[in-house]
Amino acid sequence: MPNDQSSERGNWGSKVAFIFAASGSAIGLGSIWRFPLFVGLNGGAAFVFTYLVAVFFIGFTVMLAELTIGRHTQKSPVPAFKQIKPGTPWVLVGYMGVICGVFILSYYSVIAGWAAGYFYKTITGAFPSQISWEDSASLFAQFAADPLQVLICLAAIIALTTYVISKGVKSGIERWSKILMPVLFVLIIILAARALTLPGAKNGLLFYLKPDFSDFSPTILFFAVGQAFFSLSLGMGTMMTYGSYIPKRENLVSSAAWVCFSTVLIAILAGIIIFPTLFDTLQLTPEQFKQEFEVDTGLMFQVFPIIISKMPGGHIFGILFFALLLIAALTSTISMLEVPTAYLVDERRWSRRKASLAIGIMSFVLGVPSALSAGGVSFLTQFNYMRKMDLLFGNILLAVGGLFICLFLAYAWKIRNALDEISLGCKTFRLRPVWVFNVRFLAPLAVILILIFIRVLTG
Ligand code: PHE
Repeated sequence: MPNDQSSERGNWGSKVAFIFAASGSAIGLGSIWRFPLFVGLNGGAAFVFTYLVAVFFIGFTVMLAELTIGRHTQKSPVPAFKQIKPGTPWVLVGYMGVICGVFILSYYSVIAGWAAGYFYKTITGAFPSQISWEDSASLFAQFAADPLQVLICLAAIIALTTYVISKGVKSGIERWSKILMPVLFVLIIILAARALTLPGAKNGLLFYLKPDFSDFSPTILFFAVGQAFFSLSLGMGTMMTYGSYIPKRENLVSSAAWVCFSTVLIAILAGIIIFPTLFDTLQLTPEQFKQEFEVDTGLMFQVFPIIISKMPGGHIFGILFFALLLIAALTSTISMLEVPTAYLVDERRWSRRKASLAIGIMSFVLGVPSALSAGGVSFLTQFNYMRKMDLLFGNILLAVGGLFICLFLAYAWKIRNALDEISLGCKTFRLRPVWVFNVRFLAPLAVILILIFIRVLTG
């Protein structure tokens, strides 16, 4: 929770404090685990470029929309919609965000649990200092398929997240992450530099950054837009909640731009580590890779032990990296739990403790099948349970949420009210006509088209 300044509810002390907190929510496994995974699954550079375009035109648009609604109402999503348009179905968008929060938390915590497991493994020296692709892949497969280990890790992540939210010690975490996130950034730069100097780095970079136009497809667009929403924590009211704490004098436009920029930067760097390392190890050309290699949900966890083993002082590097990744993931899980908790506290008058505990337990229960779907239980694995949850909640429903947030702002609340709110801290909004066009037409239309297309594609 932000420290108190001007209003009773409390505000972020400064714009920088807000940017750190919001980037803390945005930067996490979405950029470091999910982005490279989708790049690998969707043909490489074509996905990277589509993602950048999606962030620029849709992500930034929805980010500013959420911050503006949040700051105007100074409320969490459900009461925010009620305040602007009382007695209308718009409040359903807020409820959808609450539901997305619970479900995304459930499977996201499984991946965060993997990061916790890997942190523990690096401490205990489970990774040899020379590790081959086969060994790394089989270590991951064994770990992810061990029901006991993954469930303990899942429980630990949810317990920690619940503790932080129930005690309202979020500000403590945010203060810490202000120091730790720059350290993560430096570490990622160093790992990226090492990856780039590997002998086989070139093919990885070609795959990652040189787009092949035959790779573009509506499916890529669908996943890239989904990734823009997921990585920027958009579409479920997280940024609305964060926006509700921004003082009126602050500039929402540049804040939104900074959060988008820092998140994308981390994602791009994560890919610069993963693909050169992977291609160096596998000795494949981009074409061979696309035809022969099967990208797995564990991609990040399979590749990082390899690059770490190639670092001087790799053991320490590994410990530091997984510790920071864990913290980055926790600042994201905290922001997910905050949305449903705020709903129960603000609207149902539950105590913070009871609300966070109830949602925490629910997310754990919902997370169990996801945790067991990476080899633990065969029918869940075959069904690809976790990936299906991610497809539904992390891609489709966040995009639907974003669509309704744009429509709400443009047609129910009205653009001019939003522009009044924005102008409080931003006198010269140069991109104003572009943003207005995007909120009104481009972002909603793009999301609608993509959703229709996917229905057609998947029958
Ligand atoms: N943006 C977070 C990440 O990339 C995930 C997230 C999604 C957080 C939705 C909150 C809401 O790790």
